Amino acid sequence: MRKTIVAGNWKMNKTFSEAEDLLFEISEQLYDTPPSQGVDVIIFPPFPFLELTADAAEDDVFYFGAQNCAEHDKGAYTGEVSAAMIKSLDATHVIIGHSERRKYYGETGEILLNKVKQALNNDLVPVFCIGESLEDREAGRHFDVIKEQLSEVVFKLSEEDVSSIIIAYEPVWAIGTGKTATTEQAQEMHAYIRNLFAETYSKELAEETYILYGGSCNAKNAKELFACPDVDGGLIGGASLNKDDFLTIIYSA
Ligand code: PGA
Repeated sequence: MRKTIVAGNWKMNKTFSEAEDLLFEISEQLYDTPPSQGVDVIIFPPFPFLELTADAAEDDVFYFGAQNCAEHDKGAYTGEVSAAMIKSLDATHVIIGHSERRKYYGETGEILLNKVKQALNNDLVPVFCIGESLEDREAGRHFDVIKEQLSEVVFKLSEEDVSSIIIAYEPVWAIGTGKTATTEQAQEMHAYIRNLFAETYSKELAEETYILYGGSCNAKNAKELFACPDVDGGLIGGASLNKDDFLTIIYSA
């Protein structure tokens, strides 16, 4: 039986003191009033706040991770952060292949496959993001694009490796636009993705795979989206920056 995962992707937002306030407010609230048993919370702050996040997560009220990792082990890669460094701060997850990384930093399938392998080698759960552009959807190519994004990375891995990957379906046209996928669109794509896992590996693996929805998921629409049978929670951007909104999403899950 899959749980519901509510994950907050802070992107490049907050200063240290703002991060501290938000993290400890969320942590206290979740400690005082835990979410329902079937709900896991993950917070993805910017790199400089990972240690702070580890402190706020001390009572195991939420998991945390990084928004990206390097494709290499270690060495002369100025400005990069390795999966081993992230793991050494007790983080458990790492987002890989977010559409903003693909678009603004040229991350290709080949690079993303290396990053996923780095995460797995360092015992971090990759939250692998996929999603079609508006142009792709309007041209009716959305299923093909999603299949391709999975084929060039995830489906190159063994069933054992894939069993510890979380998928986040984030249609690019819905990210930060206030334009959410309808529950029909989300359910249709999530069911399609789950079926691809069944075809590529096994029905059992497909049933165990977490597929989160991301893209303007907020305090108003989360409950309805999470109620879709193949939507196992959300990757929340903007609404995770506000304590009340994020907690409302967590408690509605
Ligand atoms: P959004 O971002 O909720 O602000 O649309 C989601 C994401 O990019 O992960």
